[in-house]
Amino acid sequence: MHLQKLTLFNFKNYPEAEFEFSDQANALTGLNGSGKTNILDAIHYLCLSKSYFQSADNISIRHGEAFFSINGVFKLDDRTEEIFVGLKSGQKKILRRNYKEYQKLGDHIGLLPIVIVAPIDQELIIGGSEDRRKLMDSIICQYDHPYLDNLMNYNRALQQRNAFLKQAAKTGIDDISLLQIWDERLTHYAAKIYEARQQFIERFIPLVNKFYAYLTQEKEIVSVRYDSQLHDDNLGVLLEKNAHRDRILQYTTSGTHKDDLELLLNDYPVKRIGSQGQQKSFVLAIKLAQFDLMRQTKNVKPILLLDDIFDKLDLNRITRLMELVNQDTFGQIFITDTQEKHIKNVFESINTPLKIFNCIS
Ligand SMILES: Nc1ncnc2c1ncn2[C@@H]1O[C@H](COP(=O)(O)OP(=O)(O)OP(=O)(O)O)[C@@H](O)[C@H]1O
Ligand SMILES: [Mg+2]
Repeated sequence: MHLQKLTLFNFKNYPEAEFEFSDQANALTGLNGSGKTNILDAIHYLCLSKSYFQSADNISIRHGEAFFSINGVFKLDDRTEEIFVGLKSGQKKILRRNYKEYQKLGDHIGLLPIVIVAPIDQELIIGGSEDRRKLMDSIICQYDHPYLDNLMNYNRALQQRNAFLKQAAKTGIDDISLLQIWDERLTHYAAKIYEARQQFIERFIPLVNKFYAYLTQEKEIVSVRYDSQLHDDNLGVLLEKNAHRDRILQYTTSGTHKDDLELLLNDYPVKRIGSQGQQKSFVLAIKLAQFDLMRQTKNVKPILLLDDIFDKLDLNRITRLMELVNQDTFGQIFITDTQEKHIKNVFESINTPLKIFNCIS
């Protein structure tokens, strides 16, 4: 699978632009602020219907303009898939596949698997548990279609339960049995989410270990642990046990929305003891594991977007990484760098042809 052609109108700093990509490695070079990451984000939009970097779509419209559009022509085996994402200011985002509009954006997820590595991923290490749940969810959604629905249904029930708890505190209703309707729904969807996350984790952990060992030539050992309150009991039991506390706090304190991943380096939290390069290597190992898992489950090589990847990594790790992505388990790659010469040298050293695009804003 690869992206052959990309056309942008009024997308971020691009008034109008067209790119014909190589089905192997593509480099986006240029000064800070020239629009390298923006191209990666446009590709992310096409594959997952949204930006990787911000949740509000309207800020992707070029300043002073009324709409943006992104067009992509993808090749999957012998098939062509033409994807369109468009947004007019103040209107609903439109997503089309081969000129047919999707009724539900979620239906698109999984058609064009993608993995992105960007500086913002450091949040996986230093940020809150929400970032790590989002990572799990975004991976699982791309290969397990019902998962997204389960997640949305769970979140809806959770919001309603929380709203009820707030309302009950205000109005003084103290009939706990009224929570039952939400508890049943949450328990039902949480069981599915928990099971999918567990199955994911079982396959994911050995892959993270493998890639970290590969990148670092086995200098350090990492491990990932899945934390969930549901290890102890099903959610129905937990909700009942904590009903009183939930009423006092006015929100739901147990459930899969509290799940987390513990990221350990030599048995200590990497957040606390990891150097910047070690943290970056951990993120890379996670993303490479994601790539491998998606490749296996979908039987297609995802598109790989590497944003500012060389920063903070030593030469050994860069070489290992490039050797790895040069193997034929990897497909189309997009990589950004401010220095064209640097990236050229790296790809020459691994004998890989590289198509270079110079971004000038
Ligand atoms: N909606 C928008 N309208 C116009 N310009 C925008 C919009 N959103 C972002 N930009 C511009 O895009 C540029 C940032 O582009 P991008 O993040 O792709 O740069 P980059 O080449 O990746 O830079 P760096 O090397 O610093 O990572 C900034 O100049 C920013 O002002
Ligand atoms: Mg950038």
